[in-house]
Amino acid sequence: MTNNLFENQVPFMKPLLGEEEWYAMKDVILSGWVSQGPKVQEFEQVLANFLGVKHVIAMNACTSAMHIGMKIAGVKYGDDVIAANFTCMANVNAIKMAGANPIFVDVDPKTYNIDPSKIEAAITPKTKLVLNIDQIGLPNDIDELQRICDKHNLILLDDAATAFGAKYKGEFLGKKALLTTFSFHPRKMITTGEGGALVTNDDKIAENARILRATGASVSDLERHKAKGMILQKYYDSGYNYRMTDMQAAMGIAQMDRIDYIISERARQARYYNEKLSTIPGIQIPFVPEYATPAWSSYCLKLTDDAKLTVEEIIAKMTENNISVRYGIQPLHQEPFFDAMNFKDDDFPVSCHLAKNTFFIPIFPGLTEKEQNYVVETLQKIMK
Ligand SMILES: Cc1ncc(COP(=O)(O)O)c(C=O)c1O
Repeated sequence: MTNNLFENQVPFMKPLLGEEEWYAMKDVILSGWVSQGPKVQEFEQVLANFLGVKHVIAMNACTSAMHIGMKIAGVKYGDDVIAANFTCMANVNAIKMAGANPIFVDVDPKTYNIDPSKIEAAITPKTKLVLNIDQIGLPNDIDELQRICDKHNLILLDDAATAFGAKYKGEFLGKKALLTTFSFHPRKMITTGEGGALVTNDDKIAENARILRATGASVSDLERHKAKGMILQKYYDSGYNYRMTDMQAAMGIAQMDRIDYIISERARQARYYNEKLSTIPGIQIPFVPEYATPAWSSYCLKLTDDAKLTVEEIIAKMTENNISVRYGIQPLHQEPFFDAMNFKDDDFPVSCHLAKNTFFIPIFPGLTEKEQNYVVETLQKIMK
């Protein structure tokens, strides 16, 4: 019996998965090698070829990739890491895993990404790294962030979790920053169920990352297998078990066979929304800076000051019409975890405003034309 969670409902999102992924995973299971092995290596090569980068180190999650990236960048206990407060808890989790403290900076009102002009004021003598987050699939201004980092001797880690396939000045994210991370969670551009990757062009960083993700062992299981047991691993550092399984990697390879379609279909749906929704009073479509080609992993609308409905009312009405929509990103400094740090909303006016005035509507390959039209027509009707 199939378990259809999406009956009579326009889903908010659904990953594009089919028999290709199923067969790919089945072959791995029947091969007997299910942990990190030849398929992970192949998936990493497929990703590296696509992005045009030297090294991809696949892991069990993007959070793990950010943690390892920070550790390799030299982030230590008590250091400060600058990040936008307008993001998910995973970014703070990775900073905390590295032993550091998040220093929140508000976002730009147009891009919803960390506002580069506010970063310098947040730098302390303990600041080691700027964790940029390309939110909602939209690249931030990487050159400007790099300029600030170079000036203050800081490392830039670009968390492009939501932005696999997005381009900055015509090149895929991952090519420019010393460290870039991606997520393969089902809400992202491609999925391996759970999963992530660290991307770098630096040989030494890549070597360290491969060691740290697999318990700190100097050689991988695959290398030992190929050497027929003739090499012995050494431990120069303690590491983690952040390995991706070969079953996940096989799913990822099948997903990469469709990556051109996934990217172009999302862009097509975004263009359609842009065209149809830009004329609805009270609604503002997403801003795209000249330097960016977004991945359109999500589609976020903003209410203008003259909107007649609140986000809550819109979500309620869309839900009544069987359309799944979601609140926009909520500012992390308001979460109970940060109570003791006494953050003030006044220090984050942009993200506080965006949290109350933005919402996500469905966008994903597999959303039919009929469904997308229905979303547009319903929004047109309720915003009148
Ligand atoms: C911007 C951002 N970074 C990192 C993550 C964490 O990714 P993962 O679940 O693969 O650890 C997410 C997940 O939602 C995210 O949205």
